[in-house]
Amino acid sequence: MSAGISTLSWRNNAVILLDQKLLPAEERFLTCTHYEEVLAAIRDLTVRGAPAIGVATAMGIALGALTLPDDSPEAFQKGFETMCNAFAQARPTARNLFWAIERMKRCFLENYSVDGSGTDSAKVRQALVAEARQMAEEDVAINKRLGRLGQALIPDGCRILTHCNAGALATAGYGTALGVIRAAHEAGKQVQVFADETRPVLQGARLTAWELQQENIPVTLITDNMAGFLMKQRRIDCIIVGADRIAANGDTANKIGTYTLAVLAKVHSIPFYVAAPLSTVDMQLSSGEDIPIEERPGEEILTIRGMQIAPAGVNVYNPAFDVTPCSYISAIITEAGIAEQPYESSLKEFLLSIS
Ligand code: MRU
Repeated sequence: MSAGISTLSWRNNAVILLDQKLLPAEERFLTCTHYEEVLAAIRDLTVRGAPAIGVATAMGIALGALTLPDDSPEAFQKGFETMCNAFAQARPTARNLFWAIERMKRCFLENYSVDGSGTDSAKVRQALVAEARQMAEEDVAINKRLGRLGQALIPDGCRILTHCNAGALATAGYGTALGVIRAAHEAGKQVQVFADETRPVLQGARLTAWELQQENIPVTLITDNMAGFLMKQRRIDCIIVGADRIAANGDTANKIGTYTLAVLAKVHSIPFYVAAPLSTVDMQLSSGEDIPIEERPGEEILTIRGMQIAPAGVNVYNPAFDVTPCSYISAIITEAGIAEQPYESSLKEFLLSIS
């Protein structure tokens, strides 16, 4: 990203979030000093994208821990758990949110003494803040690694279609799908990106187009319903998307519309890649059938920037994600390597390699 702009950061015991709802019209930062503000920012998409949601969750929990009442060890632990439960309700599909909560809980327990000598709450608070900050740093490093590995799949002159925003804005920095594109660009390859606008929230138009412009990576914006036509015209060489949750067999939940692209890619024999950190993989779920799909307010479909675009009272259905079966995915690009079918064993091996 351009110098001086960061998606999220921890500064002076506050969480600073770039307000993605306002982009590209305005670059405004939100300063959160209470965990409830971070929680609200995750819900209303001020911060979005699975890895960014994960890091924001960790920072939100650390922020909340700073002011948890510590009259007794029990009260301290109970307050911590209540807060974690609140975050767990924020966005049900993003695996990284739950991964972040699990990691913060582990950190809490490692630093929390239940031996009756009382809890050193200052030590716990400090450890939680350090853990959240480390997770932000790790996320950027992971994306860079993933990008370097994935760019090997991108030939010079490649015309790439992407959906939603899986860039620096969706992570602590560098991005996943856009990280691969960025790495190819940094390696001197000529790449050209087609960005789906991504209705209803327009992450492609508002965020991906903006981010790629900042990086001087050639980008052409199209509406979602144009993608099939471009594939038929042989103007797309590969598709790269991010992921919100990947089941053990490789079935992948990502922004609504991803499945449609994968089916079209198969018909047109175009490689379809998923790029995601291993923290997005959920080995507890054997297939995508069990991935919870978030439904968002109908308002997102009924209005654009506050303007009503459909008759009042019309029924609306607004699932935020869909699931692409693993058989439609050519490879899953992770920080530990490029996973291929059968994904169950390749993902398991990669997870073991980083544990
Ligand atoms: O609803 P959003 O904007 O949070 O959805 C984001 C996506 O679907 C991304 O593609 C996914 O989280 C991967 S981000 C690296």
